Amino acid sequence: MTATALGGPHQPVVPADVPPAVHLEDVTVSLPRAGGDLQILHGVSFKVPAGSIVALAGESGSGKSTAALSLMRLLPWGARVGGRISVGDRDVATMSREELRQFRASEARIILQDPWSSLHPMHTVGAQLVESARAADPSLSKKDARALAVETMARVRIPDPESRLKSYPHEMSGGQLQRVLIAMALVARPTLLLCDEPTTALDVSTQAQILELLLELNREMGLTIVIATHDLDVIAGLADRLVVMYAGRVVEEGPTAEVMAAPRHPYTWALLQTAPKHNNGERMRTIEGRPPALDALPPGCAFADRCEFTTNACRTERPELLLVDEPTRHRTACLRVQAENQEA
Ligand SMILES: Nc1ncnc2c1ncn2[C@@H]1O[C@H](COP(=O)(O)OP(=O)(O)OP(=O)(O)O)[C@@H](O)[C@H]1O
Ligand SMILES: [Mg+2]
Repeated sequence: MTATALGGPHQPVVPADVPPAVHLEDVTVSLPRAGGDLQILHGVSFKVPAGSIVALAGESGSGKSTAALSLMRLLPWGARVGGRISVGDRDVATMSREELRQFRASEARIILQDPWSSLHPMHTVGAQLVESARAADPSLSKKDARALAVETMARVRIPDPESRLKSYPHEMSGGQLQRVLIAMALVARPTLLLCDEPTTALDVSTQAQILELLLELNREMGLTIVIATHDLDVIAGLADRLVVMYAGRVVEEGPTAEVMAAPRHPYTWALLQTAPKHNNGERMRTIEGRPPALDALPPGCAFADRCEFTTNACRTERPELLLVDEPTRHRTACLRVQAENQEA
């Protein structure tokens, strides 16, 4: 696999009917705020087929991170969560504190945008890898954990892993640190890897290498990956399915290649136009207008003010996320598309 192989949409290799590793059903998230709660997610539903890569896309503030973090119950203090979140056959909402700790140490791991802030600056990389491995499996001896750390460092393509274990984070580049963080997740043998903007802080060529690594881990180890990113070019060559979010809701969801080649929601279409690939490598202006404030969402479609196809119905009736293609389970929340589908 080369960096250029990540360039274009690829056909999904994981069929839509594989049992989900992750299932969000009508998930709502509200945060306490002076003067009343602020609702951030408004009934978010999507599935992540086991062994697939699913990307959450959307403009800043659309709720990508909140949706991803809710899977591990990593939400700000006081957050209220409604609906149902399952990972495998487990209900994340009902886990005890101890179950949740174990779940976060082993089954579900997360990688954030900024590798520098995710590592302890005063501890060697090796010590942090050993700690991560033993937190996931306390029966592992220090020696075995160290051997696993070396093997995993090699797996994520860090040259000379034995000696790199002795390095401190400040002695490594951003790209290498992101590999170390991926290794820290892998030594725990997780089934689910969440990545929140994993390459945003890195330069372009390093970004491609990290994405290539994630793709490799998914294809070779069957690791299920959920990746939140505002960069559609990142998603194109990586994700099996794409979940497009707008103002705390899912507006379109389906196989990446299909959604990118034939987006059904006007927001998805507009978002695709902002990707450099559509503009001879230049990042185009953002979509005209702004999303509505979360505490002042309109009664109808939240995109209505920015959409060139808006009708009166769009302003009063909230579109549900409905299937537009049964075999691929491509869904969209747009009244116009749904009306066209009924006519067809
Ligand atoms: N701790 C918080 N307190 C108040 N509001 C918050 C908090 N966390 C998130 N929000 C709000 O919730 C909305 C969704 O935020 P979220 O971080 O999930 O969006 P995002 O799609 O990940 O955006 P970005 O691309 O900027 O990372 C935003 O309007 C944000 O301001
Ligand atoms: Mg975010």
